[in-house]
Amino acid sequence: ARPDALPRDLEGKRVVVSAGGTREPLDPVRFLGNRSSGKQGYALARVAAQRGAEVTLVAAHTAALPDPAGVHLVRVSTAEELQAAVTTAAEAADVVVMAAAVADFRPATRAEHKIKKKDDGSAPTVALTRNPDVLAGLVERRRPGQLMVGFAAETGDENGSVLDHARAKLKRKGVDLLVVNAVGEGRAFEVDENTGWLLSSDGLEQRIPMGSKSELATAVWDAVSELVRTGER
Ligand code: CTP
Ligand code: CA
Repeated sequence: ARPDALPRDLEGKRVVVSAGGTREPLDPVRFLGNRSSGKQGYALARVAAQRGAEVTLVAAHTAALPDPAGVHLVRVSTAEELQAAVTTAAEAADVVVMAAAVADFRPATRAEHKIKKKDDGSAPTVALTRNPDVLAGLVERRRPGQLMVGFAAETGDENGSVLDHARAKLKRKGVDLLVVNAVGEGRAFEVDENTGWLLSSDGLEQRIPMGSKSELATAVWDAVSELVRTGER
């Protein structure tokens, strides 16, 4: 859709979107990372700006993507940097959308110098430590009326389907909306199309048809806009 054909229903709303994937350093040249491209987060930021929102986009390793127009861009690298940037921006925000792939673990120590091979042929063991859960921290600190949107990339397993895991995560995370992507076998990561479900804390479950990441972004903002509208009544 052309920007001038979009509703201006987010006019005056302050939104924060996180995008991309964090990198957790092992030494000056190596990191633990993930396959998130940032495309979905960028589409969310772009569509929100087109619908009138004041957008802060906190981006982790999205260098391949063009800066979206009319968006305040903050670049970060690690989960801890992302947490600091998102938490600060969230203080004044009406809506926070956590689309970034935040590393759950980081190397317990970051070597000051490049890790070298040893002559004895041995390999080092990397000890990991837990990263903070950014979204959990935001939900804990939320102001009345502030909306929280989480993302979940799930695969089904012996403990349940994609949707089973997602319903449990919606409750566990305490968010208003959870966007669920089925991942694995070329789905969701690094591709231009995305599909999934939109689960809301009031029990609504909406299937999002296969389409572009802009279309998914539109579905998310439609749902947010509806929650804002009903919350204001
Ligand atoms: N998230 C976060 N901080 C983390 C990990 C995840 O804020 N350290 C956010 C993600 O941005 C996403 C949501 O939490 O919006 C769900 O992420 P996900 O990885 O699906 O959930 P986890 O709670 O990390 O559970 P899992 O063990 O399934 O990875
Ligand atoms: Ca995780």
